[in-house]
Amino acid sequence: MADRQVLFLRGANGEPLQIVRAEGAWLFTRDGRKLLDASSGAIVVNVGQGRPELAELAREQVSSLNYVLPIWLSLARERLVEHLAQWTPPGLDRFFFTSGGSEAVESALKFAFLYHRIRGNTTRTRVISRQLSYHGNTLGALSVSGNRARRADFEHVLFDWPKIPPSYCYRCPWGRTWPGCDLDCAQALETAIAREGADTIAAFIAEPMVGASGGVIAPVAEYWPRLAEICRRHDIVLIADEVMTGFGRTGKRFAVEHWGVVPDIIVGGKGLTGGYVPMGMIAVSRRLTEVCERAGADFMFFTYTAHLLACAIADRVLEIMEREHLVEHAAQIGARLGERLRAELGDHPITGELRGAGLFWGIEVVADRATRQPFAPKLQMARHLMRAAIELGLAVYPAAGMAGEQGGDAIMIAPPFVIGDAEVEFIAATLRRCFDAAARNLS
Ligand SMILES: Cc1ncc(COP(=O)(O)O)c(C=O)c1O
Repeated sequence: MADRQVLFLRGANGEPLQIVRAEGAWLFTRDGRKLLDASSGAIVVNVGQGRPELAELAREQVSSLNYVLPIWLSLARERLVEHLAQWTPPGLDRFFFTSGGSEAVESALKFAFLYHRIRGNTTRTRVISRQLSYHGNTLGALSVSGNRARRADFEHVLFDWPKIPPSYCYRCPWGRTWPGCDLDCAQALETAIAREGADTIAAFIAEPMVGASGGVIAPVAEYWPRLAEICRRHDIVLIADEVMTGFGRTGKRFAVEHWGVVPDIIVGGKGLTGGYVPMGMIAVSRRLTEVCERAGADFMFFTYTAHLLACAIADRVLEIMEREHLVEHAAQIGARLGERLRAELGDHPITGELRGAGLFWGIEVVADRATRQPFAPKLQMARHLMRAAIELGLAVYPAAGMAGEQGGDAIMIAPPFVIGDAEVEFIAATLRRCFDAAARNLS
């Protein structure tokens, strides 16, 4: 029986699963079932669950010092920022901490507005973002999100800011193919800036690879370098939202490293603490923070900014990833996972496109491979596949809406970085069974 006091709890099977224990990449339910968590929760549990080392660290931290005002110094935060500066791209070594990804996105947007205001630009009050994106659940973060379903009930109160299409070759809005096109998806940013007026735009925010709004959509390699060049030329703050892709998920520490791009701000969350405690962060370029520091600007904290327990855990999670070479492992085992998914499902009658990097994979499913026609939205195919996988002991993440008015369905496969070959085989074989059953039911 679900907890009826929780707002609108929606489960995969009508009744939500009740997980009572977890170990590594495996979840154990109250009724005695075992599931492989191939979505790391909400793409969070990168280092796997149930690590005694983190439990012990939490006990030590809480019993010695639990909370100090965020404006005071703390050893736990000091260690974390020193450590993080070794992870983030060069120059991005000023940090601000939050309780999660949405607050971190809000903070990135606020910082961009502040940066311009301090330099006397009070007309730069808008942010360009992309269709098929999710940046969080608070009103500012939802305003820059292009996810139509998640915006729908709040559209009337959100900031009315410009959106451009993402780089999405499978359903290119210009009907063109790469190579051979003019990178119209990047040019769309230039066009939007010209239309709105560069002096009205504070920032541009995008996910390096689209997460749950698209089912892992990676751009062509030339896309992000072009975006960075456009933003720099127009003095627009470039924000890479790496809440989902950051901290090793795509086989690099940050996804922007795939293209050698250094944005002005990186937003992080999820994998930073691997789900052990809530935390988000922004890493901001010193080039920008120095301007604000020189002017004596203030940046108000949240009560839980740089919470000591979260700082201690995040620092240790980074250490664990280094000690166990988990980012390298994500790249290697992720390549193997990609191969096995391709072998089992690449040519499957309902597979439209299989895409991804590291341990971040998506399979967009379609009713017709030749025309790329999506399934009717009322079939809720992504949810259907997720439910079928759960029945077989596998948790994957649904994504929907990437085909716009026509719907669109995908599943995301993003297991913890601690999986091995046996788990890879289980994922590929189980999904094959689900896809076969779905195709049989449809025929
Ligand atoms: C890319 C991206 N940004 C921001 C968020 C919001 O993070 P949170 O749910 O921790 O507030 C999410 C959550 O899924 C996300 O995927």
